[in-house]
Amino acid sequence: MTRKPKHNPFTFMETLEQHVREDRVSFHVPGHHNGTVRDEKLPTVFQKIMPYDLTELGHLDDLHHAEGIILEGERALGSLYQSKSKWLVNGSTAGNWSLLAATVKRGERVYVQRNSHKSVWNAIEWLGLEPILLTPELDRGSSLPTVVTLETIQDAVTQYPGGKALLLTSPTYYGDMANIPEISAYLRPLHIPLLVDEAHGAHLIHPTFPKRSAIFEGASAVVQSAHKTLPALTMGAWVHYKEEINEKRLFHALSSFQTSSPSYLIMASLDYAREYLENLSERDWTHIQKSHFAFIMEMRRAGFSIKVGDDFTKMTVLTYPKNGLIFSQHLASIGIDAELAAEDHVLFCLPLRELKSQEIQHWVKLIKNASQHVPLIVEDETIYPYPMTERVSVLHAISDDADIIRKSFEQAIGAVAAETVIPYPPGIPWILRGEVITHEKIRVLNEWISLGRNLQASRHVMMKQIDVIVEEF
Ligand SMILES: Cc1ncc(COP(=O)(O)O)c(C=O)c1O
Repeated sequence: MTRKPKHNPFTFMETLEQHVREDRVSFHVPGHHNGTVRDEKLPTVFQKIMPYDLTELGHLDDLHHAEGIILEGERALGSLYQSKSKWLVNGSTAGNWSLLAATVKRGERVYVQRNSHKSVWNAIEWLGLEPILLTPELDRGSSLPTVVTLETIQDAVTQYPGGKALLLTSPTYYGDMANIPEISAYLRPLHIPLLVDEAHGAHLIHPTFPKRSAIFEGASAVVQSAHKTLPALTMGAWVHYKEEINEKRLFHALSSFQTSSPSYLIMASLDYAREYLENLSERDWTHIQKSHFAFIMEMRRAGFSIKVGDDFTKMTVLTYPKNGLIFSQHLASIGIDAELAAEDHVLFCLPLRELKSQEIQHWVKLIKNASQHVPLIVEDETIYPYPMTERVSVLHAISDDADIIRKSFEQAIGAVAAETVIPYPPGIPWILRGEVITHEKIRVLNEWISLGRNLQASRHVMMKQIDVIVEEF
């Protein structure tokens, strides 16, 4: 039987360090046995890290039944976010799956943002949920998708009542944030839990921010990829939740969708990321934000058109009439790696630290230089506005053994799509698996294909064919 001390006066990292100092003998997994199974080819950095890559020994607690140092780390996290919190070692992906499983049962309805991350769509499919789709707004200047409005949510709830939860993405990749106080005030009396995919929002905690993490503003639960915006290792994430979330179901889901061998390196980095945030002084926050604004101002002064959202760590360079994809390739060739690029923009994720003015000057010079080598977009690459799609729509349930057939676009009109087509940008699905293919959908698709627009879709879609469900009579 394993021994589990209830209280450890040391932090998670200190306990790991103490364990390593004791130079213990490992007759347990992982198979590198504290880094002792190796040959001369093992890189030095791995030699240093492996002893910390531990397992659930008694004094090191167990993520899935936390009672010791993990519970203490999660409690410290919860007090920072004024909620209950759980560490995640399988990213926000596992968090989205778990929140949906904890709040919505098989066959039940859930309201969900149309351009949700694929983890949300996968969870909906495998958990057998009925999604009601909420289309986000588009930014007027850039045509990038922004947030779902209260009006759209009200329409969805009125037209399709009975949903068991509502899941939004906020902040978006581009830093736009939904009006969470307003939305949660509407949903609360209806007993519809508001779940927020805040994969990009773990750092938005300061009380003076005009918009903060949704967990401070009325959401029932949020999922955050600590690894995206804080100094945490990749896959390190966490979930914060309030009383209305059924903890038993949530814990069951978390232990079902996550590995049974959680990485102690990832967990240590999560505890460090929490501490890093906690240790930021008022002065630090001010200097970080000021330096980010200074970077943006310098970029504008250098002639770039910049979109900023509510999140000060996101800077979108609107590159039109130059091609953002080619621009980002030029940047990469001089050692500057941006987060993502599309035909008309390049997105930069700014680090959560004060940027030094010499760094800013240096970067702006390099970026400007790279931009000068990017040719203007030729006519047939022009960016086309995204046509309006329904603000609220539904999908047909597709059974696991449904027959699928490939049809030409014209023949597919009226059938239920068996695959998804996403124009990128803006990344809002134009056709979703389970959606009825209308004449208008095909008309627009035909136009995009003939104009050479970038589509995330199967190859045969580019040949004007699409997989549909064979109707059962
Ligand atoms: C909005 C959104 N949600 C969820 C995820 C999944 O996060 P993770 O990589 O931490 O599993 C991502 C990742 O890109 C994302 O952008």
